[in-house]
Amino acid sequence: MLPNAGAILPPKYDPLDPAVMENPYPTYARLRESGPLCRGGPGQWVVTRYADVVSLLRDARLGNQFPEAYRQFSFGDTEARTFFERIILNRDPPDHTRLRRLMGAAFSPALIHKLTAHIGDLVDGLLAAITDLGRCDAVADLAFTLPVMVVCELIGIPASDRDEVRPRAADLCKAFGTRLPNEDRAVVNNALVWLRRYIGRLVDERTGRNGEDLLSGMLAAAGAEEKLTREEIVDNALFLLFAGFETTMNLISAGCEALARNPDQFMRLRDNPALIPLAVEEFLRYDAPIQTVGRMVLEPVEVGGRIIRRDRVLILLLGSANHDDRVFKKPEQLDITRNPNPHLSFSGGVHFCLGATLARVEAGVVFGRICERFVSLEPVAAPVRLPSAAFRSWASVPLAFKAR
Ligand code: HEM
Repeated sequence: MLPNAGAILPPKYDPLDPAVMENPYPTYARLRESGPLCRGGPGQWVVTRYADVVSLLRDARLGNQFPEAYRQFSFGDTEARTFFERIILNRDPPDHTRLRRLMGAAFSPALIHKLTAHIGDLVDGLLAAITDLGRCDAVADLAFTLPVMVVCELIGIPASDRDEVRPRAADLCKAFGTRLPNEDRAVVNNALVWLRRYIGRLVDERTGRNGEDLLSGMLAAAGAEEKLTREEIVDNALFLLFAGFETTMNLISAGCEALARNPDQFMRLRDNPALIPLAVEEFLRYDAPIQTVGRMVLEPVEVGGRIIRRDRVLILLLGSANHDDRVFKKPEQLDITRNPNPHLSFSGGVHFCLGATLARVEAGVVFGRICERFVSLEPVAAPVRLPSAAFRSWASVPLAFKAR
């Protein structure tokens, strides 16, 4: 084994630094330059470079199942604690393998295909409401509404219930930050109690009916072989409300913001819509909706010449890996023709995002329609971010456009 590097401590990554929350990329660049590893909170190490992040994402010596003490620290005695225990994201094999097979089977290509037409109709409706105005807020008018509607359709939440579900889904998203602040605990708890009861009722209604939505798919898969408990079905369906909502909302907001700030790139895309799939990959790389993922060290691993002991936590900086100039030429530039673009925004290894295809379809339809309808796109006021280092979230992206 390699000895741990001597007396000089690597620099520290502070996710609560307001400068990091506003724009983490200059900090990431400094950290990557200083070394492959920096210090995080107590018992944490932070991985900065692409090569290490990509290989650690696939390393079975790391896990996603955090000990009870972590959940207690993050959530206290709230409903969120049991929720985070059950969801696929926080499970290790063999439980993870079982859940992934059952949930993956429910995410069928036929379901995605059916959703694609629905997404087109939803985007048309949202754009029709703003086209004559010549201006919009990309968050309020587009990004906040579309993904939650799509995920409701995916799960099989009836249209008549969606206005009640949406604010609760937004409240649930608060639980996914680095630590749930005390003042938000009651809000998240109330949302979870309501959503668990609501989805539980849907599960009971769908049982034995062979429907085409994801919930029915999970029920069929659960009955077919290894058991998925009712609690697991309910909480993992709820997890999709977060997984498919906040992330895709941030991708759409980030893409709109980046195109408005880079008019040459917008014009290039508008004049050549065949570039849309590459542009979506570039928005994902340029400002990844999820910037960091955490892993428990189950067996000692060596990173950058240092042995990281068991029970330590590794924070993998996806956003920093995506801007590593060892892999990406001129990483600070938005280049909608970048190809190849092996960004890590959907993570990697066994936890690779289950909704990546759906997210790509949603963003492809949005930017496709924007290019069809608008000849120009520009910022009208400074965009406003929500403070978070783990997510690149937007409160507002005000835009002006000329419709064709
Ligand atoms: C731009 C949009 C999205 C981004 C950037 C994104 C990103 C991610 C990332 C980084 C992970 C892995 C976290 C880790 O390794 O610890 C993940 C997992 C996951 N995502 Fe996504 N996601 C997006 C959209 C979606 C959508 C639309 C859905 C479904 C409706 C979805 C469902 C999931 C699920 C179920 C997992 C857990 C997979 C597992 O643990 O095996 N995601 N996503």
